[in-house]
Amino acid sequence: MIIRKEGFKDAAGIRLVHEAAFEQPNEANLVDALREDEAAQPVFGRVAVTDKGEIVGHVLLSRIHIGDISSLALAPVGVLPAWQRKGIGSELIRQVIEDARDAGESHIVVLGHDSYYPQFGFERAIDYGIEPPFPVPPEVFLVLALERNGLRGVSGIVRYSPPFSAV
Ligand SMILES: CC(C)(COP(=O)(O)OP(=O)(O)OC[C@H]1O[C@@H](n2cnc3c(N)ncnc32)[C@H](O)[C@@H]1OP(=O)(O)O)[C@@H](O)C(=O)NCCC(=O)NCCS
Repeated sequence: MIIRKEGFKDAAGIRLVHEAAFEQPNEANLVDALREDEAAQPVFGRVAVTDKGEIVGHVLLSRIHIGDISSLALAPVGVLPAWQRKGIGSELIRQVIEDARDAGESHIVVLGHDSYYPQFGFERAIDYGIEPPFPVPPEVFLVLALERNGLRGVSGIVRYSPPFSAV
């Protein structure tokens, strides 16, 4: 199993991963739409690949804004059902976080389980005055600072790129 940056040739395998992980095509469609959408750039994607070359996991970060401040959304992350609970999702997330940090990004927002994301350093966004643009319980709307004090002075309502409105 290796985890590497996604490439153009991975698109079909990535679709299969999300269609199976989410049991619907919405997230696979979101990935394709985010790659094409100017407002969503840059995107940072990583895939988990078996030694037989099968893509079994994928994660994507893409451009969003907190108020007028550039940020990133972590969405979606998916692992083929047969490969779940083996640490693949966590490793994908850890590595894509490093990609964003290396690129000089400052923070990442995620809508997800509060039992899963704190292990990577995600905290409640509302504690920083960062709010979702739709009603969700505060414990599932989370933010991660990629550098010390990376969230200082950052607050406001999150603005997703257009492809998210279809999900
Ligand atoms: C969520 C997901 C990406 C995690 O990937 P993974 O490789 O299975 O995760 P890891 O092996 O790194 O970590 C396992 C932990 O993830 C958490 N987890 C996995 N699936 C979960 C689920 N459906 N609900 C809540 N927590 C879940 C659990 O804490 C689990 O730990 P445990 O096995 O000790 O209970 C994967 O389960 C998946 O694709 N799920 C379906 C799609 C999805 O819900 N994606 C996330 C929303 S964008």
